[in-house]
Amino acid sequence: MKGKKRLLTGLQASGTLHIGNYFGALKPFVDTYEDYESMLMVADYHALTSIKDASLLRSNIFDVVKDYLAVGIDPKKAIIFKQSDVLEHTELSWIFNCLVTVPFLMQAHAYKDKIAKGLEANAGLFTYPMLMAADILLYDTDVVPVGEDQRQHVEYAREAAMKFNNAFGDTFSAPKELILEGVGTVPGTDGLKMAKSRPQYVIPLFGSKDEITKAVMSIVTDSSADRPEHVYAIHKLFKTEEELEVLYKEKMGNYKDLKEALIEDIDSYMSPIRERRIHITDDEVKKVLEDGGKRAREIAQKKMEDVRKKIGVTIN
Ligand code: ADP
Ligand code: TRP
Repeated sequence: MKGKKRLLTGLQASGTLHIGNYFGALKPFVDTYEDYESMLMVADYHALTSIKDASLLRSNIFDVVKDYLAVGIDPKKAIIFKQSDVLEHTELSWIFNCLVTVPFLMQAHAYKDKIAKGLEANAGLFTYPMLMAADILLYDTDVVPVGEDQRQHVEYAREAAMKFNNAFGDTFSAPKELILEGVGTVPGTDGLKMAKSRPQYVIPLFGSKDEITKAVMSIVTDSSADRPEHVYAIHKLFKTEEELEVLYKEKMGNYKDLKEALIEDIDSYMSPIRERRIHITDDEVKKVLEDGGKRAREIAQKKMEDVRKKIGVTIN
């Protein structure tokens, strides 16, 4: 029996992290992970749905783990691991794929968005939510800190758990998403969702002051409004609404000053973690993943023994 509740989240190794990833998923994890049995995953097999370049995927994996360590996650207090090191994830996702229907998966946002853009989705992207369900359910996860765009995927995990339990008996518990109030979806500099797949519109999490300046100065503003909404939406992640109230009143209509204030606030918030990141070596990352993989496998293997028995593939 486990004591503390389980917290688990993951980020895809699909590119440089931006402040949307930080405030949507990483910060809620950092703020709460010591109260739970915590696991932080690098979703490298999810990244394979978009990346077909071995050296890029490999370097992204190192980068994401460095980001995890730099934002202050202690690998002794959380299991940091990568998805591909625990084969049970892909195994369980197959089982879930055999339980859910094609029309159900067709309603998933990631797939629908791709189709809406006229792009061809690979079968991995189509079944992506069942791999994510496996990531979550394999560890009897209670709480999943994510950004708003992942709410539906956690719902899909609950659905997969229910389908399995109905078919084979009580095995998986229902996970709950943790979405930070007031964060919602962080806009990119163009006003649409900030996303790794649109790097020209992101504010990088570990950007230099020059990169931050360039990104903030390019935030689109509506000159007819008193307040530049997209600047404000990002600013409120770094300062309280009370603090901003004063500033935005004083500088009303002066977008340049407001953007400069935002640059300073982002830079002073990020500079200590940026500094920490410089000193993290590839060897340190390898050690963390090796240890984390071992600890994750122990839990996952035990759970899968039960699952295999329940579905009837164990013959002894
Ligand atoms: P991206 O959407 O940038 O490709 P991921 O899909 O790997 O990144 O998302 C990693 C985590 O970051 C998820 O929990 C997701 O909800 C969160 N996230 C991503 N973009 C944003 C955003 N613009 N605002 C808030 N959270 C976000
Ligand atoms: N699908 C998530 C995203 O794109 C990443 C992810 C994979 C994840 N597995 C997970 C998040 C399990 C939370 C829990 O952001």
